Amino acid sequence: MNAIIESLREKIASVSSFDEACEIIVRELRRLVEQFNWVGIYMRHGEELVLAAWDGPEATQHVRIPVGQGICSLAVRTGETVVVGDVNADSRYLACFPQTRSEIVVPIYAQDEVIGEIDIDSDKADAFTDEDRQLVERIAATLGGLHP
Ligand code: SME
Repeated sequence: MNAIIESLREKIASVSSFDEACEIIVRELRRLVEQFNWVGIYMRHGEELVLAAWDGPEATQHVRIPVGQGICSLAVRTGETVVVGDVNADSRYLACFPQTRSEIVVPIYAQDEVIGEIDIDSDKADAFTDEDRQLVERIAATLGGLHP
């Protein structure tokens, strides 16, 4: 995990904008971790989550999500990581892709405020391990530290 974090930190060290860092993170996380099939970053704009960057086989229809809907909102409202091992068994889930089986959503903090989140879908059930969770939480912390 440290190698992935190091390589990501190196890649974003030279970027000139927060948005560019988001683009690199979604692309690299998806490339480096096999079970991360779709990776997105939503930023909070008032009472909406707005998709800022994504990488995956197809675009999501959920480009804007009202805070209050979906697993994505839960992470923003509680300020805590949400891991769902079987999305089909979770009534809070907002379906995006028919092949998605599990999902992790990690809030991004800037100082004490949740400014957005990293959302990852996997085609495998129970795909996200504790190590994956730690990895994504550490990346989210790095990204939060870059926010202007
Ligand atoms: N499944 C999310 C919506 C976003 S898509 O997965 C890209 C949710 O339940 O909030």
